[in-house]
Amino acid sequence: MGGSGFVGIHLVNKLVVAGYSVRVPTRRREHAKTVAVLPDVEVVEANIFDPVDLDRHFAGMDAVINLVGILNESGAGQGSFHEVHVELPRKIVQACAASGVKRLLHMSALNASTAAPSAYLRSKGEGEAVVLEAGVPHGKNENRSCDDPGFVRGNGLEVTTFRPSVIFGREDSFLNKFAGLLKIAPVLPLASPQARFQPVFVEDVAQAFVASLGNPATFGQSYDLCGPKAYALRELVSLVGVMTGHRRRIIGLSPRLSYLQAWFLECLPGRKIMTRDNYYTMQVDSVCSAGFPSIFGLKPSAIEAVAPAYLVEASPYQAYRSAAGR
Ligand SMILES: NC(=O)c1ccc[n+]([C@@H]2O[C@H](COP(=O)([O-])OP(=O)(O)OC[C@H]3O[C@@H](n4cnc5c(N)ncnc54)[C@H](OP(=O)(O)O)[C@@H]3O)[C@@H](O)[C@H]2O)c1
Repeated sequence: MGGSGFVGIHLVNKLVVAGYSVRVPTRRREHAKTVAVLPDVEVVEANIFDPVDLDRHFAGMDAVINLVGILNESGAGQGSFHEVHVELPRKIVQACAASGVKRLLHMSALNASTAAPSAYLRSKGEGEAVVLEAGVPHGKNENRSCDDPGFVRGNGLEVTTFRPSVIFGREDSFLNKFAGLLKIAPVLPLASPQARFQPVFVEDVAQAFVASLGNPATFGQSYDLCGPKAYALRELVSLVGVMTGHRRRIIGLSPRLSYLQAWFLECLPGRKIMTRDNYYTMQVDSVCSAGFPSIFGLKPSAIEAVAPAYLVEASPYQAYRSAAGR
């Protein structure tokens, strides 16, 4: 679910390469055009909030992957954080039980917690708790047969959750957003310039999902996913400026002005560049306390190695010209 989105497209591709057959439920078939052309991918229009539809689409599946998420509540007909991040996971867990699906991979977010400062992170934390509670705790059934008195039944769901920092990749809405702003703005007033992020490459996130799918050691576990390096937001934006050849003056806003900017942008019609809830999310550093989980056996890619290829537009020499001050 969510297989038509930014992470979803990369994950579906990797699943197909790994030999899985994938069903992608979507609100509108045209949202899933990119994955629909892949072999062994079935795209189905569905109302994923309808338990009957969920049961129908889960039937016969070995595993369910939930990537559905929203960053803002503002989109028309999009639903609230609670509906998308808490109620939907609850329905998914119930539908897994009803349809006999044993394996669930769930996308949460770094810092997701019921005590977090933003509604986004609190709802993500609540949803993650819902799926983890429905699963068998890690290691509980190791070396036990199901007749053993110590065997934990729960609903038998083998759950793994993933908690990435901000994700980057060709279609990301983070680095690309700043690249777009730097292209048109002579000066960039930047909210929360000191907020810290440890961006992780979308292919690495997708690989972690694929690697965990059939690995019992990941059952009942939750994984923070970060890239190799942490940056202050100001550093990241100026890095994007260098990579795209649009080096601009960045004016870091105070906390009060950052809040007011977020409020102003929230009030503008159309797609939200930023909201007050996004401002609250940035009050906690989105960085990991340890390296990329070794169980996935990969070295995470750095922004510097990947992003120039998709951020640099027409002239590949633009970035070098800018770096040289020309
Ligand atoms: N991108 C990041 O930096 C980042 C960082 C941390 C965590 N995450 C989490 O990772 C997951 C995937 O993120 P993404 O960047 O790939 O998101 P995305 O590109 O916006 O895709 C989200 C997917 O969810 C589905 N969806 C969205 N809103 C929905 C709604 N109201 N009702 C039903 N379906 C809805 C969409 O499917 P259809 O349109 O086909 O129905 C879409 O394919 C999300 O849970 C997100 O919170 C992302």
